[in-house]
Amino acid sequence: MITRAQKTSYTCNNCGHTTPKWVGQCTRCEAWNSVEESVAKPPTGGTRRAGPTGQLANLARPISLSDIDITARDRSPSGIAELDRVLGGGFVPGSTVLLAGDPGIGKSTLLLQCAAGIASLTGTVIYATGEESQDQIKIRAERLGIAQERLLVVPTGDVVALGVLVEESKPALLVVDSVQTAWHSGIDGGPGTIGQVRQSAAALGEIARRTGVPVVLTGHVTKDGAVAGPKVLEHVVDVVLQLEGTTGTAIRLLRGSKNRHGATDELGVFEMTGTGLRDVAEPSAMFLSQRQKGASGSAVATVIEGTRPLTVEVQALVTPTQAASPRRTTNGYDLARLHLLIAVISKRLNFPLGSNDVVVNIAGGLKISEPAADLAVALAVVSSFLDVPIREGWSASGEIGLGGELRAVQQAARRASEVQRLGFEKCLLPSGCNGLGESESVVVRSGTLADAVRAAIPLPVPNTSADR
Ligand code: TYD
Ligand code: MG
Repeated sequence: MITRAQKTSYTCNNCGHTTPKWVGQCTRCEAWNSVEESVAKPPTGGTRRAGPTGQLANLARPISLSDIDITARDRSPSGIAELDRVLGGGFVPGSTVLLAGDPGIGKSTLLLQCAAGIASLTGTVIYATGEESQDQIKIRAERLGIAQERLLVVPTGDVVALGVLVEESKPALLVVDSVQTAWHSGIDGGPGTIGQVRQSAAALGEIARRTGVPVVLTGHVTKDGAVAGPKVLEHVVDVVLQLEGTTGTAIRLLRGSKNRHGATDELGVFEMTGTGLRDVAEPSAMFLSQRQKGASGSAVATVIEGTRPLTVEVQALVTPTQAASPRRTTNGYDLARLHLLIAVISKRLNFPLGSNDVVVNIAGGLKISEPAADLAVALAVVSSFLDVPIREGWSASGEIGLGGELRAVQQAARRASEVQRLGFEKCLLPSGCNGLGESESVVVRSGTLADAVRAAIPLPVPNTSADR
């Protein structure tokens, strides 16, 4: 029964939008039948506000900034190099990390490996699972070759019980798999409803901050890539990591989309093997491993992901348009950026791409957002259009301006030395890139896209307005 102290509101399971009345379609995200009743109960204890007399009953005690001791706040590394890289060195005490990803992508696998790592390096880990039985966890652990005394499995999603457990045993890490199966006894509604997910995550965050124990949660994502149900969840946690992969390949990419304690541009690369996720120490070699040499429409770009250069294959397919208007499709690359490059190629190189469909794909499931990939994408498109392969052993990095000019890229020396290390013969760069030190021997410079095409694709290109 709803008492006067309880307030009823209606919340969308999809986007978290709250309305005072029930509606069949959410007014914000337009999802149908996603709105459910949620009853907020008055808090049953804990913090009380200052009374009229000004007494700070039960209120958290303020502490001077200069008295806060952070010496004990060292990060705990998991020992999994690619995970630690994305976390910024390991788990920060008292922080909450959300590991999001499609079902079956490998979240539980990664967290079990991470739990075993922390258990061997730091101390006891509690692995709470509301998704699987203890037996299932044991079977996975056997497959991963994990036998850790200090790894404790609790088959529950009850966050209040977990709070007590953490308080009592002060583990080095608490894993909650998954937030969709976590539930808080103070909230109405079954596990997975918006209120439960949000409240459970908030309660776990509170446990982490109070006890200093880092907490990591897994969360499923919906078809369109958002963390399932509540977008709001992302605000409740300190770090959001996304585990991604393309179907049919064993490559798994771990990326931070939010990190209060480090950079978000770091990329972790794993390979799913028969015995769990394996760090990929040489991602460039892996991204290029399936490349078909001598094929037209294939270029190699060097991009900087976080602190390291990565070399990837850019594929383009240009075919005559059959429909009324040409189609442009991308996978792993920004569509608006492709439109811009097509306009520049059409105008500055006089290639009539207006009557061709263009498809661009970044091999290996990587998503590239750096403008430095422009040159490789443009070269791949031109190479496919002409059906002439780019010179073997060439890679390219450069931003393309609307005038067809090549603009200098950041960290050119690191890109050049990476391609040199990988055994490439040439690294095509914009004229403005200087100070390349030992890599100078592999560098070829171009001032314009037309120049770059002439250098990298062995075919005469008509003189154009962009020539200098
Ligand atoms: P899982 O970690 O259960 O995914 P999630 O928790 O994200 O739903 O991983 C499931 C998939 O990973 C499953 O298809 C089997 C595969 N897998 C391997 O290929 N090797 C392994 O060692 C393990 C444990 C799983
Ligand atoms: Mg799982």
